[in-house]
Amino acid sequence: MTARTLFEMRFSCRSFDTAPLDPETIEVVLEAARWAPNGGNLQPWRFVVVLDSDRRRAVADGAYGQGFLAQSPAVITVCAVPDESASKYGPRGRDLYCLQDTAAAAQNILLAATELGLGSCWVGAFDEAAIRRILELPQSWRPVALLALGRPAEAEPRRTRRPLSEITLWYE
Ligand SMILES: Cc1cc2nc3c(=O)[nH]c(=O)nc-3n(C[C@H](O)[C@H](O)[C@H](O)COP(=O)(O)O)c2cc1C
Repeated sequence: MTARTLFEMRFSCRSFDTAPLDPETIEVVLEAARWAPNGGNLQPWRFVVVLDSDRRRAVADGAYGQGFLAQSPAVITVCAVPDESASKYGPRGRDLYCLQDTAAAAQNILLAATELGLGSCWVGAFDEAAIRRILELPQSWRPVALLALGRPAEAEPRRTRRPLSEITLWYE
């Protein structure tokens, strides 16, 4: 599958078959995350995999009741470790690079999941303090994205994007 096919196939899936995913499948997508570009190759990211249904329900509550997080058989929380980026790059590392690094890792997870025929959704609307508590995260980890993963129970929706002409500035 080409990269182009993959990013056109990926869509935000919010309805899942509840059948569990095996750990090997989840490891494939985590492996993809590891290869994301990142500032200074510091890899200031951590991944928290939640399979158990009680904790997934709690995560869904922490994400303002987005119930598909409880329905999807796996939720991966992508966390940044801002101190690790700051140790080399100061405030720019803390406030920008570690977030860019983890966003790149999250996108790799979504594309790897797409290649495996899985549905996925990036969830950014959540109560950080609640998610920290539910996942018992170390103080130095900042949860950045919740990624719902599972077999899709919905057809691929038609999506639109703004045209290139509207979002591009060229100097020739
Ligand atoms: C930073 C970020 C935050 C997002 N937060 C949510 C969210 O909280 N809930 C949700 O259902 N989708 C969320 N999404 C998914 C977007 O709604 C979705 O990517 C967008 O509508 C485009 O649709 P597509 O992913 O199918 O191309 C988020 C995506 C990103 C990148």
